[in-house]
Amino acid sequence: MTELSKTGAAVGEPTPAKAPEAFLEVRDLKVHFPTDDGLVKSVDGLSFSLEKGRTLAIVGESGSGKSVTSQAIMGLHRLGTRGKNVRMSGEIWLDGKELVSAAPDEVRKLRGREMAMIFQDPLSAMHPYYKVGDQIVEAYRVHHKVSKKVARARAIEMLDRVGIPEPAKRVDGYPHEFSGGMRQRAMIAMALVNNPELLIADEPTTALDVTVQAQILDLIRDLQKEFGSAVIMITHDLGVVAEIADDVLVMYGGRCVERGPADEVFDKPQHPYTWGLLGSMPRIDRETSERLIPVKGSPPSLINVPSGCAFHPRCPYADIPKGNVTRTVRPELELVSTGHWSACHLSAEDRQRIWTEEIAPKL
Ligand SMILES: Nc1ncnc2c1ncn2[C@@H]1O[C@H](COP(=O)(O)OP(=O)(O)OP(=O)(O)O)[C@@H](O)[C@H]1O
Ligand code: SF4
Ligand SMILES: [Mg+2]
Repeated sequence: MTELSKTGAAVGEPTPAKAPEAFLEVRDLKVHFPTDDGLVKSVDGLSFSLEKGRTLAIVGESGSGKSVTSQAIMGLHRLGTRGKNVRMSGEIWLDGKELVSAAPDEVRKLRGREMAMIFQDPLSAMHPYYKVGDQIVEAYRVHHKVSKKVARARAIEMLDRVGIPEPAKRVDGYPHEFSGGMRQRAMIAMALVNNPELLIADEPTTALDVTVQAQILDLIRDLQKEFGSAVIMITHDLGVVAEIADDVLVMYGGRCVERGPADEVFDKPQHPYTWGLLGSMPRIDRETSERLIPVKGSPPSLINVPSGCAFHPRCPYADIPKGNVTRTVRPELELVSTGHWSACHLSAEDRQRIWTEEIAPKL
């Protein structure tokens, strides 16, 4: 596994001004929303990179900033009234182009063609009153100057490709005439119609039954192999991560607390929050009757983020690091092994001891 950040864009390190070598590189991304209650720091200094042909899973509790991160990459914050109320800084480099400072029009041109997104709810991407085929035709023709007939043939080809039976007939169906799984496939067909180089899948299988979930994951993996796309998979399911991800990024309160190769993060997780997640997240590849132990306490406020380590009010080990460091100094990401970063004040010895003696035997 190569290091997640070739240019070493970990938080706290100097950021080079020139374009990175990585296909996607996010540097010190901040997405803040001014609200009546205060400034919501949904994403607060996130850095990572991703190469083509690879899959990065982003995991973390509800409200940790996963969707906001993906919407920021896609430039979706600038749409409608929401865009007026967002403060965004940092850099998002996609294939040599910087998107945070780019004109909205430039980002719009990339959306759909170079990058596409699939959502948990297909109806958030598809219009309920238009035929599925017409919507795919439209998505294709935005980026390709072809006749409706050619685009329709492409839509049928894509519906076939995602495993929708009788695609020449279903192309004229409406979204509500499709089952949940078929609608999800149709949305994937729409997202992939332009062979995007970056695909962001935000909980694409959560609403589906286990068999269909597995089929959809296979589909994303096959299509990724075929097109060599980079994939960001946002999920609550560690089985999905185990199945599909090369790398994992764990988010807590708008920041990355641990990231690294998937097998490393599974076998030798370094952060107490990741330990909690491993015991609390469901896995499609395991019996559901297995006991899940939720991480104690509630996710942090993103307006009044706890001082020092944002996880400290919930962390069973907060008193181990000497002095009051855990409550006063925010831990930065540090390299713990090749490509594996963690942000915690515990010493390597303490982490090793707690993991092997206390956590691993219970998982
Ligand atoms: N437009 C907005 N204005 C104010 N706050 C927002 C806005 N959009 C998102 N947030 C807040 O940002 C935080 C992160 O939201 P986000 O949707 O990224 O969470 P998530 O990690 O995707 O959670 P989930 O797993 O539930 O999907 C949440 O607290 C959310 O309320
Ligand atoms: S820095 Fe302290 S509070 Fe934060 S995860 Fe590590 S031990 Fe827990
Ligand atoms: Mg979300």
